[in-house]
Amino acid sequence: MSDSPKRYTVTAALIYANGPIHIGHLAGCYLPADVYVRYLRAKGKDVAFISGTDEHGVPITIKAKKEGISPQELVDAYHKQIKQSFADFGIGFDIYSQTSKPKHHKVSQDFFKKLYADGHFLEEETEQLYDEVAGQFLADRYVVGECPKCGNENAYGDQCERCGSALSPMELKNPKSTLSGSSPVKKRTKNWYLPLDKMQPEIEKYVFSHPEWKSNVAGQCKSWLNDGLKPRAMTRDLDWGIKVPVEGADGKVLYVWFDAPIGYITFTQEWAEREGKDWKDYWQNEETKLVHFIGKDNIVFHCIIFPAMLMAHGDYVLADNVPANEFMNLEGDKISTSRNWAVWLHEYLEEFPGKEDVLRYALASNAPETKDSEFTWKDWQSKNNSELVGILGNFVNRTLVLTHKYFEGEIPACVTLEKIDEDTLAQLAQLPCDISKALKNFKFREALALTMDVARLGNKYLADTEPWKVIKNNPDRVKTILNISAQITATLAIVCEPFLPFTSEKINGMLGLDKREWMHAGKADALEAGQQIGEATLLFEKIEDEIVEKQVNKLLDTKKKNELENLKAPALKEEIVFDDFMKLDLRVGTILEAEPVKKSKKLLKFLIDDGFEKRTILSGIAQHYSPEEMIGKQVTFVANLAPRKMMGHLSQGMILMAENNDGTLALVQPDKKVWNGGTVS
Ligand code: MF3
Ligand code: ZN
Repeated sequence: MSDSPKRYTVTAALIYANGPIHIGHLAGCYLPADVYVRYLRAKGKDVAFISGTDEHGVPITIKAKKEGISPQELVDAYHKQIKQSFADFGIGFDIYSQTSKPKHHKVSQDFFKKLYADGHFLEEETEQLYDEVAGQFLADRYVVGECPKCGNENAYGDQCERCGSALSPMELKNPKSTLSGSSPVKKRTKNWYLPLDKMQPEIEKYVFSHPEWKSNVAGQCKSWLNDGLKPRAMTRDLDWGIKVPVEGADGKVLYVWFDAPIGYITFTQEWAEREGKDWKDYWQNEETKLVHFIGKDNIVFHCIIFPAMLMAHGDYVLADNVPANEFMNLEGDKISTSRNWAVWLHEYLEEFPGKEDVLRYALASNAPETKDSEFTWKDWQSKNNSELVGILGNFVNRTLVLTHKYFEGEIPACVTLEKIDEDTLAQLAQLPCDISKALKNFKFREALALTMDVARLGNKYLADTEPWKVIKNNPDRVKTILNISAQITATLAIVCEPFLPFTSEKINGMLGLDKREWMHAGKADALEAGQQIGEATLLFEKIEDEIVEKQVNKLLDTKKKNELENLKAPALKEEIVFDDFMKLDLRVGTILEAEPVKKSKKLLKFLIDDGFEKRTILSGIAQHYSPEEMIGKQVTFVANLAPRKMMGHLSQGMILMAENNDGTLALVQPDKKVWNGGTVS
């Protein structure tokens, strides 16, 4: 692929429409994709930016079942929400569509039929796991069991999340159906396989022709290739999905990883029809550069399986690069949808309107480009306060305020250039080239740091030239200084746009400029002298500690809740016989008096009417009930327990209480009034 392809097709993974978007998705895939595309557009390139939701597969049906709605209702609802939050966050897809649409069914079926007709599939009858209770085959996540590689007892039928191995349901030890909980039986069924083993030489040639791929991506590919590729089923015995379009395939659908990547093609067609373009230019033309943005769990599908499908088909270009990121963790723990351990995009947008760029900045500057990284609210705050407010906002604000103060808001012309001016302009010309280079090579963190260097350059220039001092004696000198500061500001608006589109628009608005193309960055024509600028408004505001605390507390609450949910009831005691139980004399009584016990935090002392007399019982419930609220209550108690001395008082029995999972205690009471002394059995 030449360095300047005619056009770009950039895809971002089709996320399963079974949950909302969180910061891990953004940092891993969508934000870098958007930054790259915005950069290409600023360079005037022809780009199609394609994404949408993945709406088939077992994760969808499992979630729909849990929520008690149909799979279609589920995916429609999540699609709508996800699409909206991406738009609000400034992710500028050209199209964001759905794989459940009829058009996509047709495109995928046609693709399958072509491979079928050309004899690419291996048709094979094998034994698969079958749930006799639910009456269906158990594909992928419909089974859990023990991972044959690492022993994890909760491995899924398609993957072990502990060791990362790709699995098939038949490999699991002690498999259990997630539908009915029953142990599945084996049953024969026919499926169509893509013979990846036979295609291995071709696939190797493709992968090895890209030494420039990121090392995490190349590493995963090599490990798959070293293990030796195996035929992979492209159909499943399921009912939710795209019907397999050949005879003898009733009750079978396309494997979700067969149809989903074809979604990129379908959605490009949809977009091209809308825009009056030819979709084939974007998929079947050697001068097109195809780039897939994904998270690391999708690498094998985009670097091996989908390319193999495209090779088998024959009409398509293959991805030129697959810049997959690693994962982003959150406050010391793996992000997890099921544990609600995440910062959800739609919640962030609601809680922090106008702070989209703050999140974009915090995520991009800490993106998991080469290894896993971590998001903390503290870091989000400090990136905002010390970098966005302290460096970028500060520079732009000073430039605009000084221009208003000294020149009534009109950009002055340069008078005479001194050495410091020339040096600064030279650096200003160089930075956009360096940023370009980093972006082209998918080094987004580096590109963002260089972008901030433009603002740093401006701050240093103002600090060194001190226009606020020079103005008294040499207003001409200040003209030059503020002209150059304004040029730096105009360049900042261009180079920060991929990362901070909302901020870029604000800067342009203040400068009275339209959005400029990349070629103006660092050049004298970024901004004309004589231009009247608008009012200086603050780009960013300081984030106070309370805001961070609130978010951290929200996560702590989640953690507590999860811990409680994970608690198991304590193990059962040894078995006893009926006669053992009959030895206990359990009774009902009424509390007449209640008082605290001196020097004890736990104990309350009760006087109880037990039907014969009044007896004293001490009980460790002071932290759960007040003496006042106990008076008049009926309780059950062990009436024949030998008296025991506690804190200087004789306790004649024991009140029954149930313990909750958080350690709180609840009285065990008869549910209607019982006469005092009534027996319990
Ligand atoms: N749905 C998959 C996931 O969320 C990604 C699919 S990407 C595509 O992990 F290639 F299939 F489109
Ligand atoms: Zn494992």
